[in-house]
Amino acid sequence: MGPAPQTLGIETSCDETAVAVLDCEGRVEFDVLSSQVASHAPFGGVVPELASREHLKALPWLVDKALENGTQEIELVAVTAGPGLVGALLVGVRFASAFAWARDLPMVAVDHLDGHQASPFLRRERRPAKQVPPRVLALVASGGHSAWYLSEHGVSTRLRRTRDDAAGESFDKVGKVLGLPYPGGPVIDRLARRGCAERGLFRQPKIKDGSNDLSFSGLKSAAIREARQRGLEGVGEAAAGPEMVNLLASFESAVIRQLLGPMKELVHEHRPDLVTISGGVAANSALRRAITDEADRLGVALLIPEPCFTTDNAAMIARAGQLGWLAGRRDDPRRLDARTREIWHPPVMRRKLDQQARGAE
Ligand code: KG4
Ligand code: ZN
Repeated sequence: MGPAPQTLGIETSCDETAVAVLDCEGRVEFDVLSSQVASHAPFGGVVPELASREHLKALPWLVDKALENGTQEIELVAVTAGPGLVGALLVGVRFASAFAWARDLPMVAVDHLDGHQASPFLRRERRPAKQVPPRVLALVASGGHSAWYLSEHGVSTRLRRTRDDAAGESFDKVGKVLGLPYPGGPVIDRLARRGCAERGLFRQPKIKDGSNDLSFSGLKSAAIREARQRGLEGVGEAAAGPEMVNLLASFESAVIRQLLGPMKELVHEHRPDLVTISGGVAANSALRRAITDEADRLGVALLIPEPCFTTDNAAMIARAGQLGWLAGRRDDPRRLDARTREIWHPPVMRRKLDQQARGAE
């Protein structure tokens, strides 16, 4: 893989405004993030319109900081173009397009999930990014997605996906019922370490059509039911006792078993050079241990991202943009649009569609 242009990366797909600069060997020269968690917290989840407005406020300021800090000129602009909240994505896409157009720079639109898949190859302390081998089997587990991909020479195919909730979403929803702060994943990770998993508390879900896809909503509902039966609703982190930490250890271990369920079959079938894990849930300490053990058992190489690159960040977007550029990708800043991939509807319309769907049952 040759040198890439010095790249400005921009990520605004959800509730983090992130900007990064990578040098020609994928060294992270600058990496900042403005989190909106506090603005959304009173609403108990991400409010799409608020997210767009917060991105509008933060992004120009963060890019200014990146330019002030920069040791070299920007030569390429990489921006997340989807999937995500359409209004939030558009702020990043339009800003990046204007930036590239005004400076006559090439531009690459990045799929957020390709960004996550690039994150294990990034290194801290100004070390060059690792090389990506030809065949990579990648698990992406975040708040919005949970899927296994096979990436062959940079072209990624989805092999398994969740049919309902994402793994991170199930952590966040269980956390909310227990009165834990948002997002629930990191707190559950902490509390579960103090607990012991109770054998047989959660049964592994099976998809009705017999496919090997993933599912987390049944586990989430079972954990919420169990929490209510144990009187743990709204208890919070400070008052967490053995009942809560054991329940969380059991739930976390069931989610991990579900995530790693297909790994053996996929490794045998696709014979990858490397297995990776990425996305916010890849910060989970028990998952990192479990996938390390499984990779050892299967005799396959494993690469786990630095914790700082697991959750949404712009360094991974800049690196995915560089890899795309090296593969010959270029996007026209005058034509670039946000790609939501999943069909996004405003809340009022979503309620109507839900009512229609219920009426049709
Ligand atoms: O990748 P990310 O920042 O955003 C999306 O693209 O969705 O992932 C955020 C998700 C949240 O659901 C959060 O609860 C989860 O990652 N998460 C964790 C941990 N840290 C973040 N889940 C389990 N254990 C963690 N340590
Ligand atoms: Zn993400």
